[in-house]
Order: sequence, then structure tokens, then C-alpha cells
Amino acid sequence: MNRRGEILKEMGLSPVWRLRSNQEKPEQQSDGIAFMDWTRLKAKVAGCTDCKLRAGCTQTVFGVGDEKAQWMLVGEAPGSEEDRLGEPFVGQAGKLLDNMLAAISLERGRNVYIANVLKCRPPGNRNPEPDEVAKCSPHLLRQIGLVQPRLILAMGRFAAQALLGTDATIASLRGKLHQFAGVPLIVTYHPAYLLRNLPEKSKAWADLQFARKTVSDS
Ligand code: URA
Repeated sequence: MNRRGEILKEMGLSPVWRLRSNQEKPEQQSDGIAFMDWTRLKAKVAGCTDCKLRAGCTQTVFGVGDEKAQWMLVGEAPGSEEDRLGEPFVGQAGKLLDNMLAAISLERGRNVYIANVLKCRPPGNRNPEPDEVAKCSPHLLRQIGLVQPRLILAMGRFAAQALLGTDATIASLRGKLHQFAGVPLIVTYHPAYLLRNLPEKSKAWADLQFARKTVSDS
């Protein structure tokens, strides 16, 4: 199955055409992440040891916000503050994100849900490794399936590449309306990048305007 097929399958958003072996029990299928409700998904993430990251972080960082939000914001992975407090985007980058949301009359928790591709902090804030993204993505995909947002804003290269199944650059992905399993998806810079590259803020502002128009037109 190609990457897009795998993603749709994980979200439970497409028929999965495969033969079921005689040995396979129906319960085994419904035990899958793609079929979990919020309670089971939160418990699964809280107890997850599917990759090596859990051994080195303080706690898992599930996600925060309105579970029926129209806007779903997706970042990369918890940093040190997020690891300490158990909530995404609570450090410096999170403060900028909150200000950006306020500029378009949004706030975390009100019609906005925020999650990361990885639920555990990579040591020393290193980049996520491909096996970690592969192991953890199903959790994010199920969160998207449960929220059913009207727009996904992928913040930064890792979120964009993980969701779109591409290795294209942020520059080439910005400014276009992508689709993720029927949900419009817009790519923008990661707030941490904006903190280091202040002149790029105007581009992020343009992305937010584009996102706002997309939601209001949908
Ligand atoms: N960067 C992210 O991508 N996510 C967070 O939660 C914090 C910083």
C-alpha cells in the first residue's frame, strides 16, 4: 500500500481492501488505533512505548483544545517546556503561536485543537527520526479523524512532510491548498523558526489569512 493509502487506513477514512485470514479475530481489527475513541486513544498514548523516545522523556504530550474544533494545528514534537508541563506549544514558540492565533481572533481551546506529530520529546530537541514518525503518526491521524476539522494547519517541515507524505520543502508547499483525506491542509512555518527569522513573520501572516479564508469559504 502506498503512503497515502496507509494514512487513510490509519484514520479509518477509506475502505481497506484486504483478505481477512481465518485466524484473524474481529476484535484484533477494532483494537487498532484507527478505531479508538478519545478515551482509548489518550490511554494508548499515555502508556505508549512503541518507540525509543518514551524512555527519555518526562511524559507524553497528547494534544490540547476543542475536540470538535474547526481548526487543527499540527507541530513537530514537544520541547522541554512541553515535556515538563504535558501540553503542546507552551514554550516561547507557543507564546508566539498564541499571539498569531489572537491576531485572527482565535485562541487555543476555542475552536482550535493543537497536536504534534510526535507525542514524546526527542532528546536534546533533535529532529524526529523516520521510525519515530512512523510509529507515532497513527496517533495524530486518529486525532484528526476524531476532531474532523475543517482545516489542518501544518506548522513546519516535519508536520507538513509527515501529513502530505512528501519530502518537498516548506517553501514549495506554502501558499497552496493541499488535501489530507478530504480535509483542506495549509502549510506554514513553524513558530520556532519564525522566532529565529523574524522577517518571515509576514509570510506566516499571509498563510494565516489564507487559512482563515479557506475555513470561512468551506
Ligand atoms: N514545537 C513543536 O513542534 N511542538 C511543541 O509542542 C512545541 C514546540
